[in-house]
Amino acid sequence: MQQSNAGTHHKHDHKLGLTLLLGLSFGLGLGLGACHGDGKQADSPAVVALNGHGSGENGVGSIGPAAFNEPVSFLSDDELALHGKGDRLTEARFIPAPAAVNPGLGPLYNNTSCVACHRSDGRGPPVLANDGNGSQLIVKLSLASGGDPEEPGGSIPVPGLGTQMQDQAIPGAVAPATGQLSWVSKTVTLDDGTAVKLRSPQVTITKADGSNLANEVLTSVRLPPAFIGLGLLEAVSDDWLIANETASSNTPGRIPGRLNHVWSRSKQQEAIGRFGRKATKALVEDQVAAALALDIGLNNSLFPGKDGAVKVSDETMQALSFYVQTLSAPLPRTKKSATALHGQALFHDLGCGGCHQDAMHTGPDHKVAVLRNQEIHPYTDLLLHDMGPDLADHRPDFMASGSEWRTPPLWGIGVQHTVASAACFLHDGRAQTLTEAILWHGGQAQGAREAFGKLAAQDRDDLLAFLGSL
Ligand code: HEC
Ligand code: HEC
Repeated sequence: MQQSNAGTHHKHDHKLGLTLLLGLSFGLGLGLGACHGDGKQADSPAVVALNGHGSGENGVGSIGPAAFNEPVSFLSDDELALHGKGDRLTEARFIPAPAAVNPGLGPLYNNTSCVACHRSDGRGPPVLANDGNGSQLIVKLSLASGGDPEEPGGSIPVPGLGTQMQDQAIPGAVAPATGQLSWVSKTVTLDDGTAVKLRSPQVTITKADGSNLANEVLTSVRLPPAFIGLGLLEAVSDDWLIANETASSNTPGRIPGRLNHVWSRSKQQEAIGRFGRKATKALVEDQVAAALALDIGLNNSLFPGKDGAVKVSDETMQALSFYVQTLSAPLPRTKKSATALHGQALFHDLGCGGCHQDAMHTGPDHKVAVLRNQEIHPYTDLLLHDMGPDLADHRPDFMASGSEWRTPPLWGIGVQHTVASAACFLHDGRAQTLTEAILWHGGQAQGAREAFGKLAAQDRDDLLAFLGSL
């Protein structure tokens, strides 16, 4: 159903049915506010051949439900087979042991498969479920002080709860804590009089014995991000990132940011953090191992758990990592639209590009050859920035403070609503439109946010058209 551009491998659109089904049950069953891309519908699902832009040779310009399901170009047949294996593993629904297929769920977990949260490889909906159906939001937990972090320098686990609220349990087990999600609203008014309603989540956590969580426990609500382009971000060299961190504080037009330095379980040493909303994971594999162990309850060699019982082989973990590393980022469609091009100029005039950095270069060393030496356009600097009190979670993680977040990549952001109905934005999914996401910016982004609020309606639409073209 898709045309392919030369040199690009396309897979079957096998997730379409599932996506539509999930989209329907999300929209009808849960009655949540719609999250989408400012209601700007894409023309029609199609492949736009724009080879050589976007993520270098490795970008694919498709939109529609399978837009985030494209491997990077030029993988070998063996690599494509491994990619396919990892793809199937992200869809595997785990169940409690003993079972013939996919055993080992839990006993505590948040959801039963990767794509139950990362819908169609995109972001998840902001849902906390207490009905056994699984949550997509994760609530991170920690203590402000104390001993024995599981990862040197990392967050201090809460006794009995660890560093993540696992709110689901297999039969016979009891989730030690569950959360109740509600939204608090406020209205802001732009300079031209347009009123925009903003909401933020409030989660009340109750322990299994009915008591409330102790006041000293720090919490942070997180929305699952999309899987796209992560191998390309991993392939940018440490040296490039360190030089770029320095450049952020002495280059006009840039906004000073900091790299996070974290503990990498796969390297068994300190490393630069790139993944997760506070850049607390160094490598894709670190994140995948944590997802298996914490999100699905599947201990593995990097997270052996207290009893040391490993449920997932290194081979499985590597196939999952390879899949995520070799998912492409969609090509931008900016050049096809005069309004989007004007919006791109405004994006830089307003200072958005000071953090959402346009271009990066991948280094010569990544183990996946096709990811090396690419010019990519992720619209992130991978640096932590202080985003002000309204976005703060007050929960430091490694070097990131309670108000710092890693600039998220914006590639693919204009396609998310065609991938899955769930297109909410920011670290906790509070923004239901791109406009809302921008209006929450504060701290180091206060100037850019104010400049956005002063735009005339047409310019605002053009800026949104640019974001919509990514
Ligand atoms: C319960 C929902 C949930 C499940 C299940 C889940 N994830 Fe995630 N995932 C998240 C959240 C939330 C984050 C953001 C974490 C953070 O901010 O530190 C995340 C982050 C990630 C990231 C980093 C993305 C980025 O842009 O930084 C990767 C990679 C990832 N997950 C892979 C996986 C894989 C592979 C699986 C299956 C083995 C999986 N996840 C299962 C919720 C989930
Ligand atoms: C000081 C750095 C900085 C500047 C300047 C900045 N941003 Fe951001 N942006 C961030 C960070 C950090 C986040 C993530 C915040 C969070 O999740 O709470 C973010 C989030 C976003 C998101 C949501 C992304 C997602 O995946 O949920 C959008 C859209 C966005 N920014 C657009 C813009 C636009 C447009 C401008 C200019 C008007 C801008 N940003 C200026 C740092 C910045």
